[in-house]
Amino acid sequence: MSDVPARDREVVAGAIFRGGRLLLAQRTSPPALAGRWELPGGKVEEFETPQAALARELREELAVEVRCGTRIGVDVQLSAGLVLRAYRAELVSGEPVALDHAQLAWVDAEELLSMDLVDNDRAWIPELLEELRAL
Ligand code: CDP
Repeated sequence: MSDVPARDREVVAGAIFRGGRLLLAQRTSPPALAGRWELPGGKVEEFETPQAALARELREELAVEVRCGTRIGVDVQLSAGLVLRAYRAELVSGEPVALDHAQLAWVDAEELLSMDLVDNDRAWIPELLEELRAL
């Protein structure tokens, strides 16, 4: 037994901004979340950094290369031992396509407020709006 508490496993999500807009992706699964919108991402694998995981997930889901930037918004506790964090992601190459989602949308501040975001990602709305309004 160790006295050191295990660190939370992380799920990373990417906020890609371009031309005053933010990229959102529409989920296809699970049924309860299908049709709702999220920042694309996924689980960090064992021995993988969050930055590498974000690059891998966005390559797999959007067919783009990104550079992982700074954190945006609060930590969202998904369950015991699993935390969701958003990072800014800078597009390095490629044009995002929905390989894993129903569709993609580039939204401005007003549109962001009208999208049916998954509950977890709603925690980031204040910072996402602030960033969009500053662009
Ligand atoms: O792709 P992978 O299976 O690694 O991860 P995922 O199933 O896309 O995401 C892992 C968990 O994080 C799920 O419960 C998602 O609903 C949640 N998630 C979220 O709430 N918001 C996001 N922007 C991305 C993932």
